[in-house]
Formats: sequence, structure tokens, C-alpha cells
Amino acid sequence: MKHTLIIIVALASLCFNSMAQDRYININSDNVSLIYHVGDNGRLYQAYLGPRLSHKSDYANLTGDIEAYLTHGMEDYFEPALHIEHSDGNSSTELKYVSHSVASAADGASRTTISLADDQYPTTVELIFDVYAHQDVIVEHAEITNGEKRPVKLHSYASSLLSINRSHYFLTEFSGDWANEVNMSESELNFGKKVLDTKLGSRASMFMPSFFQLSLDAPATETSGNVLVGTLAWTGNYRFTFEIDQHHRLRVISGINPYFSTYELKSAEKFVTPDFIFTYSTGGRGKASRNLHSWARNYRLKNGTGNRMTLLNNWEATYFDFNEEKLVGLMDDAVRLGVDMFLLDDGWFGNKYPRSSDHQGLGDWQETESKLPHKVGYLCEQAAKKGIKFGIWIEPEMVNPKSELYERHKDWVIHLPNRKVYYFRNQMVLDLSNPAVQDHVFGVVDRLMTAYPQIAFFKWDCNSPITNIFSPYLKDKQTHLYVDYVRGLYKVLERIRAKYPDLPMMLCSGGGGRIDYEALKYFTEFWPSDNTDPVERLYIQYGFSSVYPAKAQCAHVTTWNKNASIKFRVDVASMGKLGFDIKCSDLKEDEIKFCREAIGNYNRLKPVILDGDMYRLVSPYEGNHASTMMVDDAKDHAVLFAFDINPRYSEHLLPVKLQGLDPNRNYRITEINRMGDWPLGCDGKTYSGEFLMTVGLHLFSTSRLKSHVLELTVQ
Ligand code: GLA
Repeated sequence: MKHTLIIIVALASLCFNSMAQDRYININSDNVSLIYHVGDNGRLYQAYLGPRLSHKSDYANLTGDIEAYLTHGMEDYFEPALHIEHSDGNSSTELKYVSHSVASAADGASRTTISLADDQYPTTVELIFDVYAHQDVIVEHAEITNGEKRPVKLHSYASSLLSINRSHYFLTEFSGDWANEVNMSESELNFGKKVLDTKLGSRASMFMPSFFQLSLDAPATETSGNVLVGTLAWTGNYRFTFEIDQHHRLRVISGINPYFSTYELKSAEKFVTPDFIFTYSTGGRGKASRNLHSWARNYRLKNGTGNRMTLLNNWEATYFDFNEEKLVGLMDDAVRLGVDMFLLDDGWFGNKYPRSSDHQGLGDWQETESKLPHKVGYLCEQAAKKGIKFGIWIEPEMVNPKSELYERHKDWVIHLPNRKVYYFRNQMVLDLSNPAVQDHVFGVVDRLMTAYPQIAFFKWDCNSPITNIFSPYLKDKQTHLYVDYVRGLYKVLERIRAKYPDLPMMLCSGGGGRIDYEALKYFTEFWPSDNTDPVERLYIQYGFSSVYPAKAQCAHVTTWNKNASIKFRVDVASMGKLGFDIKCSDLKEDEIKFCREAIGNYNRLKPVILDGDMYRLVSPYEGNHASTMMVDDAKDHAVLFAFDINPRYSEHLLPVKLQGLDPNRNYRITEINRMGDWPLGCDGKTYSGEFLMTVGLHLFSTSRLKSHVLELTVQ
């Protein structure tokens, strides 16, 4: 150990000396700079984060001096990013700069790696930053290596610490619950800590997904202001700590929640933290969202640049009450509507304990013979005959105690051996830290795909948080469970992606209880909420769009909110990945005809809606209306959605200014998805981009639950 220590320290001082004239490390995207500084004491400080600084000669004037990856046990009194208990019981770590390098990451990002080491212990930390220059997105993580001969304990191990020095800080959080996801609220931060975290484990983001917006100096609007938007790519417990110190400087620490998660790192073992993904915008929240959307489509989402299928799901049409005949009838409905796929939801499996309700059967992934005597193969054949694809629901990480799986493998289930079980939706969570359970979960998908290679889509659900926190597998390492559960899940998803790289999958968790950018490497889309009331969806889709692109947000037309016309419901759902969860018998003939036409429009406009830039023109939070538009890259083609929600009787209605167009070109406007009503006055007219963005269009009325969809085509 002594030798290694000497070598590390020697190398450190060598590199440090050669750096003397170049003590600044700049991590630049097109419009943003993150700059680090090596102090005279050899430690690394964050000098700056903000709009891009292109003159290196200015760096020496930067005053930021908060340590880049603050460690426990040293002189800074605030929350550390890293807390290691060394094998001799000493809990302090002091990190000094060793070297840094810049290279290309596998996906073409520019990767800066900064290596740090402690000169008393052979502990090393690498801070790794992948920069996506055009999107102004920086993806940061840390790798912590134990060079000691004996294990060390990691008590906290953040992915990132960013420090900012501004006059005011306004934090927007996105909190809620089942069917009430992502409610936005903003508050000013003052001295002390604000913590956003979760301890839910599997259904980790049921109360709040892992992202935030932080406005600097003053609250940002959609089109103006400085805003940092961050999100942790971790499908488990996360924690964001916002701490303001005595000088009113803010530190933002992002990472796995250290709650009950002390992690023992063996000799020579490396702990790789999840990615903290952030963007910084000087053009308000809208620009920040577009940065992340574009980054996600191009670099992160499974098949992010590919197509998406429209679908008909049977969940709300039948719940658990179906048989072959009903399902085939719904396939006919799918054909009548003109969607691409039929999706069979919960309730198709279990024989000893048929899944006739959510009380039993979960875990037994064989078709219920009484419901599906000819099995899934027959349904695939029927779908193929009708010219549509077939998809299927699974919830492979979970088990009902009333199941054959539970009877066989109680040791696979997370539960406290000596206490009464607490059930969430009558179910329990399988112990994914156990490799045998990982094989089982992989096998659920693999066996279905092997038996029925025609399956074209999976909806992967997760309806319970981790309850009764005790792993029979981990024995005396219980504090590894929250982390190893997620790592086990990734091992399974990695195997699925490797074997079925083109298989589209929807991430669902009793609605939007589990969404993050690590999971979305393996999923093409997610289910934001079980609440499909279109008015509620205007808020929910708006909230999620802060970070996730329209392409990833599934939006279904259902029977929720009978006061809203089918047109209103379809128009809201057409702003995301469109689907239906309704029977044709719930609709009148003219409504079915409208749906068919709207689906045709949607298919034609998918490249704009799903791959274009999103501009949130009017927020539903502002009052009685909402409007969003999408514009393609070339600014040739745009689609605009406008909604009257609950206007006042004689409201003063103003025109809405469009965004993202070319001011010097003319756009012809056509109102589409029409159903009976008069079109808007702008229908059929041509305007310059300048006019549309400066003067705007009258899109709103004083009628309740009215909607309009406009197509703009450059002339
Ligand atoms: C969850 C999902 C629903 C549906 C049910 C089935 O609640 O969010 O869409 O799949 O499970 O049990």
C-alpha cells in the first residue's frame, strides 16, 4: 500500500507541476461553461458555471472556490458529496488533483475525466463529464475506487456537486401521487437545506420524479431567464440537496439517496455512481427542455430517433374481465380506429390462482386456460390476420403471495422474516439483488419472446414500492439492498436489450411512479399517469415535458371526463405518443370517424410532433387555457395545439404569440382534427413567421373544453 501511495503522490505532484500554467479545466458546450480550478493546495475547486466564457485569459479572474467534490471530515462545514469510512475507521478524505484528460465518449460526446486522489489513503475518485455540445447538456458521474487492502464503507457517494453564486435561487419541484403526478410548484431557497428525495425503492418516483428546475437570480419564464435543469438517471432512491451557505452560495448535490444505503467497497473495487444530467439555459425553461428533449432522442432513449406505434389497450375497456372473444373484438376496434397495435394488459395469466383481480396470480406467467384456451399464440395470429401488431403487459419484478411463484420461492421475495407483511396493492417485490431472481425476471420476457416471437411490444409495470425492506439473499449486507436492487434490474434490462434490441417497451409504474433517464435507455416510452382525464393530462404532460420529450410520453384516449368531447381527448393525447384505451361501443359513429381521421393526421405529422422542437406557448398553470406547438428542424412544418379549459364568461382574450418559426418565411395555416365546429379565423390563411411570433393568432374562446389543432406549412 505504501508503494502505491508514493507512486500516486509522485504522479500527482508531477502532473500538478506540469499544470502550473494551466490550472483551469474548462468543460464547454456551445453555450455553457463549467470551469474547475486547481488551488495552490492541489485541491480541485469549481470556479464557474454559467453562460460560456470563451477567453481563457479571463479564467484567472473567476472567484468560485467551493470544492468540486466536497469530502467529509475536512474544513468545509456543509453537506459533503463523498463520505468514506476507511478500513482503519478514519472517516476523512482529502482529494487532490492528479490529472485530467479529454477524449471522445462512445456516443461521440466529448468526455473530460478529472482524476483525484487522497495522499493518506489509496482512495481515488474520477469525475467524468460527457458534454453534448449542441444540446448544452452535460452528463456527470463519479467513479470511486478503493485502493486499500481491506473494505471501506461508502456512507454517501454523490454523482455531482455543483456550486452557484447568485442573488436568488428559485426551485421548481414536481410533486404528487398516484393519478396526480408532477404538480409544479416554485419556491425561493434561503439559508440551509432543501432536500428532494425518495425512499420508495422500486416505484421510486411515485411522489416525485428525479428532476428539478432551478431559476437563478429571478424566476425564469418559458422564454427568458437563467435556469438549470437537472435529473438523476437512477431507477431507485435518489436525493437532491440544495444547500445555501453563510455567503448565500448554493450547492446542489445530486446522487443516490444515502438513506439506509451504506455501501461496502471491497479492495480494488470501483463504485460507479449514476449519471446526473443537466442543462443550463439563458433562454428560459423552454430552451432548457428542448435541450434535454433533443439530447434524449439522439443519445438516450431506446430507439430515440425511430418510429412509435399507435395502439389500442384493453385495460380500461375490460379491466380483468375478458376472454378471447372480447379481445379479438377489441382487435377489430383497433382496426376500425386505424391504430398500429393491440396491447393486452393485466389479467391474462395464472392458473392455480387466476389473475381475476389484483389479489392473486402475479408471478405465474402462464396463460389462464379458462380465459385464453388457445394461448397468446392465438391472439398473435388474430392480430396478424387483421394487419396489426400485438403487445403484452407484464409486471415481472413482483409477486402476489397468492401465487405458485411465492409458494415455490418465498426466499426470492423481499420481506422481513419476523414481522407481519405490509402489502402494497396486495403484492410484494422480488429480490433483484439475487442473480436467480434476475434470471427469473429475464426469463419472463425471454420465454414469451421465444414462444411467441410475433410479440411486438411490452408494457413493463411496477405497482409496488419496496416494502418490508429485508433481502434474504444479502444476509448481513442489508444496506446494499436499495442499490443492488437497481443494479439487478439493469442487469436484466441489459440482457433484454442485448437479445431484443429493437423491441419497443413501455415503462409503467401504476402510472408515472418510475421514470428516469437510465431506465429510458431500455424503454422507448413511459406511462405518465393512470389519470387520463384530458384536463388533468394537460398539466401532467406539461410537467413531464420539462425534461422528457413528447415522443417518450404515452398519452391515451379513454372515457375519463365525459364532459370533454372525443375531439378534446384526442387532441390532448395527440401531443404525446398516441394510444386508445376505449371500446368502439363507447363511441358514436361520427366519433369513430373523427378518431380515424385524427389518427391519420397524427401518423402524417409524427415527424413534427414526436421529433420536432417543443414550444410551450401557454401554460395550463397560468389560468384557463393551454397551448403547445412543435416545429420541425428545418422550420418548414409545425403543429399547434390550443385548449380552452375553463374560461371566464367575458374574459379578455389576447392573441397567442407563436415561437420557433422562421420570421422571414410565410406559413399557411390549416385547421385539422375538425369535428363539426367552425374553424378558427386563421384557417386557410398565410402569415409571415414574423407576424405569427410578434402579433400572434387568436386561438382561444370563452367556451369550456374546446380545442384546436393547426398545421403550419411553409410556403
Ligand atoms: C397499473 C398501470 C395500468 C394498468 C394496471 C394493471 O396501474 O398503470 O395502466 O396496466 O396497472 O393492473
